[in-house]
Amino acid sequence: MAAVKKESTLALAGGPRAVTRQAPSWPVSGARELRWMNEVVQSGRWSWLGPHERAFCAAFSRFIGARYTIALTNGTVTMQCALQALGVQPGDEVIVPGLTWVATAQAAMDIGANVVFADIDPETLGLDPESFAAAITPRTRAVIPVHLYGCMCDMDAILDIARRHRIKVLEDVAHQHGSRWRDQGAGAIGDAGSFSFQQSKVLTCGEGGAVTTDDLDVYQTVFALKQVGWMPENAGRNLYEPLVAARRYGHNYRMTEMQAVLLRGGLTRLTAQTARRERNAQRLREGLEAIGGPLRAARRDPRVTRQAYYAMTLYYDPEAADGVSRDAFRHALAAEGCSLGATYGPVYRNPLLNLDDATSPLPYRDPATLQDYRQLSLPNTERSVQETAATLSQVHLLGDSAYVRQLLAAIRKVTDQLPRVRQAWEERRS
Ligand SMILES: Cc1ncc(COP(=O)(O)O)c(C=O)c1O
Repeated sequence: MAAVKKESTLALAGGPRAVTRQAPSWPVSGARELRWMNEVVQSGRWSWLGPHERAFCAAFSRFIGARYTIALTNGTVTMQCALQALGVQPGDEVIVPGLTWVATAQAAMDIGANVVFADIDPETLGLDPESFAAAITPRTRAVIPVHLYGCMCDMDAILDIARRHRIKVLEDVAHQHGSRWRDQGAGAIGDAGSFSFQQSKVLTCGEGGAVTTDDLDVYQTVFALKQVGWMPENAGRNLYEPLVAARRYGHNYRMTEMQAVLLRGGLTRLTAQTARRERNAQRLREGLEAIGGPLRAARRDPRVTRQAYYAMTLYYDPEAADGVSRDAFRHALAAEGCSLGATYGPVYRNPLLNLDDATSPLPYRDPATLQDYRQLSLPNTERSVQETAATLSQVHLLGDSAYVRQLLAAIRKVTDQLPRVRQAWEERRS
């Protein structure tokens, strides 16, 4: 007779998994997108500022609370164009947090700016205002606060410092479509916002991006940069026609109608999805508090009036972990069917930057860069990446309450058996 597996035996020691329910799937789409897609295919109007793109931009502007939205091909060129429109020139300095996706830095590098990395808050993982202030020099032209994973940056402090030093603020909102800070939409708080619609994002069309702004000049410049140098003549009255040559060097970063169809459909679901993620994040926060182990939710700033989640940001306290490292804890939890993500690595050490390569952006071929990235070690960034930060993907936050209960059961099971987790980790590594 087969031995009965005790419920409490860790899955990595051969016990049953705590999470048996299926994780929700992502991305989602509906009948409306299929109908529109069919119509677009048959219409022959597949690109070039089509009706779906225009309708999406109008709806997204309302959703964010920004006057203008310009749709582009991805959430990297959005930042290049927005930085240029905000007046960043080759040789200017742009301050970027040490923890973000590499594209935030690459966008600034691509337009010839020098990237200066500043440290992050150890819990929310957003740009640390003090470190930002300390990184400012007379050449600083812009800062990019990144609302990373599931916490917003302290926008009051960042705006205050930026305004005092006449520094432009470009919010990187790739992760948080719909977050609100004191009821102002992320992407409409600084001088411009940059969004990504890549496949894993909470609003997606596979690949895509948008710039939001209240500033007519920024709107017209980003429009021209994405539209080969054409811009709307009277954008105050008509956001699209007639087009005139902007006398500005442009590119082709246009979005297709197929992408816009997916975004229009996704936007109709986003508010309800965000509410569901917020509810589940709150359940998890309370559940983690009740469990009381090393893992807890990152603090939520009371000024955040709506939190959108690319992932829930978690904090792992090694002091409360009985010698179990975050990675050992994650390993045991993954075996139970609850996979916590790691964070990005420190950007200044990301192998994708390849700044020594002859094809890298011009200023970086000069060894006299501002910061020596190889020597750089921002303490909060390093510790978060190596020891304390973890994430739970937005997809899990779309689950039903039974699914969330199973996630918490998995965390409790692992927390209750820390010595066993440590032992299994040591055996695995020996
Ligand atoms: C924080 C952040 N910024 C920018 C980007 C770039 O967006 P895209 O992949 O659409 O170019 C990403 C993409 O993952 C991101 O996570």
